[in-house]
Amino acid sequence: MKRDFLAITDFSTEEMNQVFKLAFDMKNKKIEPKPLEDKVVACIFHKPSLRTRVSFEVGIAQLGGRSLYITEKEIELGKRESIHDAAKVLSRYVDMIVIRTFSHKGVEDLAKYADVPVVNGLTDLLHPCQVMGDLFSIIEKKGGIENLIISYLGDGNNVCNSWLNASTRFSFELRIGTASVTEPDKKIFENAKRVDLSKIVLTYDPEEAVKDADVVYTDVWASMGQKNLVLQKEKLLKDFQVNKKLLSFAKKDCVVMHCLPAERGKEITDEVMDGPNSVIFDQAENRLHIQKAIMAKLLGS
Ligand code: CP
Ligand code: NVA
Repeated sequence: MKRDFLAITDFSTEEMNQVFKLAFDMKNKKIEPKPLEDKVVACIFHKPSLRTRVSFEVGIAQLGGRSLYITEKEIELGKRESIHDAAKVLSRYVDMIVIRTFSHKGVEDLAKYADVPVVNGLTDLLHPCQVMGDLFSIIEKKGGIENLIISYLGDGNNVCNSWLNASTRFSFELRIGTASVTEPDKKIFENAKRVDLSKIVLTYDPEEAVKDADVVYTDVWASMGQKNLVLQKEKLLKDFQVNKKLLSFAKKDCVVMHCLPAERGKEITDEVMDGPNSVIFDQAENRLHIQKAIMAKLLGS
């Protein structure tokens, strides 16, 4: 049976640990598997991307395969023809599909009808490859994830929702500091609370959110597709800017993370982004290693 990766919750904790180990071994060149030898991966992008597109295309090449970059102009998924028909046809040509788009339901439908594995490269709801890479980075930097205090500051968006999903697989404290109108997805939040593996705190107080944190994480205030809300979100979230003063409430040896692209001077200052606690560019590099491991896992490695 083919496997998809649309959400962190598609993997068990054990499988996630296998993926981290695989990523570690590939990053350190202990193994160089070629599960994509003679295979082609369709990379469908309906939103811009630097990290996801390039790290997937490079990763696919390193796993022995070839990638095909397809934009909205070519296939107009769900418009020119149904998602069902596009999924069936693509499955006759390619061996895997990576997709970045707006509708999460559209990606679920694509996965339902495709006969090949589908990987979510970001939807409005979730960004699971990002948070898999982030968990891997935290394990590298801190030796593990269990019992850490992870503070997510800013917009309750796709990245924040994926952090909530991660909290159902590992036990840590997730503190979300945001405004009342920018809270994460209610269903995902309530599910994380119900699973009750991690302690989940939602606060409107930035200092409470960041107090004694091991990881201070932020993302843009207005995501792709919401840029019309920039001014509104700036007003709501300005107190959650990751700056030197706010960082002083976190642990001295905390790591600062940002999935990028950043709006320097808005959700994070230059001083913090380029400062000694920042692991942001290691975090970006790890997208490559973790996605190679995710693809290898889906192909049965
Ligand atoms: N972090 C991330 O997904 O970056 P891109 O939007 O550039 O792919
Ligand atoms: N939340 C951001 C993440 C970008 C990688 C967005 O969706 O634009």
